[in-house]
Amino acid sequence: MNPDPTGTTSKEPVVRENVHLRPFNTLGVEATADYFAAVETAGQLFRLYRENLLEQDLWILGGGSNVLFAGRVHALVLKNEIDFRELLREDEDHVLLKAGGGSDWHGLVTCCVEKGWGGIENLALIPGTAGAAPVQNIGAYGTELSDCFIALEAFDLREGRLRTFSHEECRFGYRDSIFKKDFKNRFFIVSITLRLKKAPHAVRVNYRVLSERLAGKGIDRPGIKDVFEAVVEIRTEKLPDPSDLANAGSFFKNPVVSTAVLKKLQSGFREVPFYPAGEEQVKIPAGWLIEKAGWKGRRVGNVGTYENQALVIVNHGGATGDEIWALAVKICEDVRKKFGIELVPEVNVTGSAVE
Ligand code: FAD
Ligand code: EPU
Repeated sequence: MNPDPTGTTSKEPVVRENVHLRPFNTLGVEATADYFAAVETAGQLFRLYRENLLEQDLWILGGGSNVLFAGRVHALVLKNEIDFRELLREDEDHVLLKAGGGSDWHGLVTCCVEKGWGGIENLALIPGTAGAAPVQNIGAYGTELSDCFIALEAFDLREGRLRTFSHEECRFGYRDSIFKKDFKNRFFIVSITLRLKKAPHAVRVNYRVLSERLAGKGIDRPGIKDVFEAVVEIRTEKLPDPSDLANAGSFFKNPVVSTAVLKKLQSGFREVPFYPAGEEQVKIPAGWLIEKAGWKGRRVGNVGTYENQALVIVNHGGATGDEIWALAVKICEDVRKKFGIELVPEVNVTGSAVE
């Protein structure tokens, strides 16, 4: 499929008013957007630009699996439905694969594993779209998107033109990129390009839970399909499926602190888990901090944390965005009081209640 950069053949995008966002966020929150448009081609973005419809507050939406709508969304919500896959190049060892920003991420991973293209199998079952994957540089089980990312194409909603971003220009970090900060809601990611490896693969099984799972299954030389299946199994057991229990995955990032802070923490809590995170820095699991602050599995009204993973805030049904946000703030306060550590939300929050 051609994403139609000039917009000449794209059908007119339909902008609707007062659109309910509940079907479009995995936290299952009811909220209303002032305006909403589903975008199927880059050309439709050009058309919206030419009609001056992008000269207002904008919110880019993929699968809504990492957003919290707290109150009314006074913006034009642009939902990414640009769905295609294109094999750009193939040689004996690698493929260069381009995927539309609105393509389903797990569908893409499944397709690559079936074709024998390695690199993203550890990122199986992460909900959402390919276009959102670079925004927070999705990561799981020892891999991040940035490990096989080559470039992306994005539509500059302010300037009305397409631009390519290289790996370096994306400024990837842990759950971070330039699209989460300076360029938030400015560049609409239209496609991403990944470089994937053909057999023999370089499988990554250093993550303890993953290596233990594979060993438990008697697999000592895992292939990418084994890794994919093990990750799907672990995730299915550990994390709530949003269609059964509404959630947005980890609500906070794991805090990165200095080894000096860790030492201080260890004087009170000898068992604190931690992972190396660069020079003189460690990552502490936010789930552990939240559990120790007494919040694991606790429920306040319609909101709570998941019984098996304190880092996941869940909507037991009927919770408003404000209620969820209020719980998140309370958890932050309690963790700060107990440990002196500041939790930072991973979830992207918007809406009248937080503006
Ligand atoms: P959305 O939630 O729609 O958007 C997320 C952010 O990206 C928003 O700020 C939005 O404005 C912006 N955005 C979306 N699309 C675009 C675009 N095309 N161009 C520019 N900006 C855009 N994440 C992980 O990293 N690792 C995990 O293991 C993981 N596990 C999860 C498990 C569960 C059960 C759930 C519900 C979530 C999990 N997540 C995980 C979080 C989430 O799935 C990812 O962040 C995912 O990439 C979000 O994709 P989305 O399409 O739903 O984005
Ligand atoms: N832990 C607790 N109590 C809890 C939860 C966790 O003590 O309730 C401690 C345990 O020591 C456990 C450790 O935290 O061993 C790590 O837990 P887990 O393996 O579940 O991973 P995580 O650090 O909580 C991160 C990512 C996940 C990703 C997994 C696997 C972040 C913020 N979260 O979770 O990503 O899937 O590792 O790689 O980095 C997401 O971003 O939405 C997400 C789900």
